[in-house]
Amino acid sequence: MRWRNSSAHYGLISIVLHWLVAVAVFGLFALGFWMVGLDYYSSWYRAAPDIHKSIGIILFTVMLLRVFWRFLSPGPVALASHGPLTRLATKAGHGVLYLGLFGVMISGYLISTADGRPISVFGWFAVPALITGIPSQEDIAGLVHEYLAWALVILAGLHALAALKHHFIDHDATLKRMFGRADG
Ligand code: HEM
Repeated sequence: MRWRNSSAHYGLISIVLHWLVAVAVFGLFALGFWMVGLDYYSSWYRAAPDIHKSIGIILFTVMLLRVFWRFLSPGPVALASHGPLTRLATKAGHGVLYLGLFGVMISGYLISTADGRPISVFGWFAVPALITGIPSQEDIAGLVHEYLAWALVILAGLHALAALKHHFIDHDATLKRMFGRADG
């Protein structure tokens, strides 16, 4: 498999980045949902948010790389069998997924750094608090983070369903391409 995208195929780099981000998004959502219900006396009370934030920062870096790579090596063109409406829905859906991802990560950063404390990434390095003065920053960013996270997983779920529909009902190569199948 080639590592760059071509006009007909996704290359290894885009495929690995896509599935890494997919696993991270669903994993972070599950972790976030579980950790907000933790009792103060739970041994995970501090560790779970630390892990959530650390993976979130790493995901942000991975997403920057992904956007950079998208410019450097554009993805394949739409399949010939996809009509104008499908092409439009695909483009819009992918665009909103990108925007949603950055929205969730930026709002998460604004919650964690509202009190001026940096975010420690697994104790390896710290990301400084750059924006701290917004009134009710933690509360507003918290609401935005929660609603956007829900919107993102629902949209990602619909996106996955659309991919499965292309595979099992339309029998086209949409999903196979994202697994690097040469005939896709
Ligand atoms: C949070 C989870 C997910 C996110 C954020 C996401 C995001 C994206 C984005 C932005 C693209 C556009 C291509 C690119 O820029 O790399 C894409 C393509 C694709 N995704 Fe996902 N995805 C997720 C999960 C899934 C899942 C679970 C499936 C399958 C069951 C899937 C199947 C596909 C397929 C088949 C394509 C290629 C579509 C095409 O070539 O037109 N994705 N995804």
